[in-house]
Amino acid sequence: MIFRQMFDAESSTYTYLLADEKSGEAALIDSVQEQAERDAKVLKELGLTLKYLLETHVHADHITGVTRLKTQFAEAKSVVSAQGGAPCADHLAQDGDLFQLGELEIRVLATPGHTNGCISYQVGDRVFTGDALLIRGCGRTDFQEGSASQLYDSVTQKLFTLPDQTQVYPGHNYIGLTSSTIGEEKQHNPRLGGGKSKAEFVDIMDNLKLAQPAKIMEAVPANLKCGNLSEVSPA
Ligand code: FE2
Repeated sequence: MIFRQMFDAESSTYTYLLADEKSGEAALIDSVQEQAERDAKVLKELGLTLKYLLETHVHADHITGVTRLKTQFAEAKSVVSAQGGAPCADHLAQDGDLFQLGELEIRVLATPGHTNGCISYQVGDRVFTGDALLIRGCGRTDFQEGSASQLYDSVTQKLFTLPDQTQVYPGHNYIGLTSSTIGEEKQHNPRLGGGKSKAEFVDIMDNLKLAQPAKIMEAVPANLKCGNLSEVSPA
């Protein structure tokens, strides 16, 4: 498998490139509009065919690269959760959906809570968790129909039931960490690990007192249109 973890410094977002070596079929998870040229160049240099543009959720902190990448890779299909409120996507994903890149299989796990339309993607012994599970943290739950109670269930009943050695690749990291494992997060995640109860978790999430993401008013409407800025009506 070809695998790249790429980074957008402005939003601290990770974009992942996955590809099947034999067939050359590729997917990007959580592309960022400003990095579309970078991603396109890598795909072309490696001789890959972009088959899927997968989103873990409708982001509030950056605009997706989907529309921009589709101008160069017309065959690529965009994927957003059916609960994400973005009917512009080519495929509205449900829990258990499977996508194929040659012999590589990508499985959708519904992991709502950070937003109601959050999904994770499992590929072999890796899981791409978006903002449901971060390294020693998790996404906030105070907008976009977020729910701490739902996020607790998604992480403890779904992600934490994957094998301990599963590699966790999150949607963001703000201090330079790149990956973790399910076993590590079960033990060391300060919000969800070490057997924290749902009540303890909800209490932590209710008291974060975070400022709104700088780009939320711009990013959410744009992402609900799959990053097609010409379709976003001026506020
Ligand atoms: Fe997010």
